[in-house]
Amino acid sequence: MTPVRKSTKKSSKTLVKPPKSELYEVRRSKIQGRGAFAIKPIRKGQKVDEYWGQRITHEEADDRYKDNDARHHTFLFVLDDETVLDARYGGNDARFINHSCDPNCETEIEKGHIYIKAIKAIAPETELTYDYRFAWQDDYGPKDVRYYTCRCGSKKCRGTILKVPVYLRPTVREWLAGNDVKKPRKPAKTTR
Ligand SMILES: C[S@@+](CC[C@H](N)C(=O)[O-])C[C@H]1O[C@@H](n2cnc3c(N)ncnc32)[C@H](O)[C@@H]1O
Ligand SMILES: [Zn+2]
Repeated sequence: MTPVRKSTKKSSKTLVKPPKSELYEVRRSKIQGRGAFAIKPIRKGQKVDEYWGQRITHEEADDRYKDNDARHHTFLFVLDDETVLDARYGGNDARFINHSCDPNCETEIEKGHIYIKAIKAIAPETELTYDYRFAWQDDYGPKDVRYYTCRCGSKKCRGTILKVPVYLRPTVREWLAGNDVKKPRKPAKTTR
């Protein structure tokens, strides 16, 4: 992605305005806060937008945001092991695309850019979503799972925005139901 700030003769800190997509607009969402809604038919496989944001390191992201708010909220998107995009700065409307466990879009990383692509045909008025698949940490417990509660409302909802390892799925279901059962030992080799 082009740097958020570009040099010009007038100022070295001129903000680059991200282009606006003609395929969707931002409105109130039943999932959470604001969301992105199709305003034109979108074809399966069509690129919907690029996720814009200031490029920072993981350390900078950790310094900027501590996961200690009462409710989880982020505009961060992990690009790779070095870089995170912070859409709070220089972000476009793609930052309002909510998570769903049964999404109609997916994200694709191509040459350092993050794109949102439709994985099915999307009719106007439909909310655009992708699966955030937030990384699972081995020390996560019931509180973390509930902190990342999912409100996508789909029949396939797994209850949390986190990507839960297969061996922990029954445990996480119990935690989400309010039963703080003991976490099983991690299998020696986990493929997912
Ligand atoms: C990139 S923002 C999406 C836009 C957000 N709705 C807003 O109005 O700012 C990501 C945040 O939205 C919320 N969010 C997105 N999808 C969600 C979901 N399925 N369930 C609960 N919260 C969700 C979470 O707070 C998440 O950290
Ligand atoms: Zn869900």
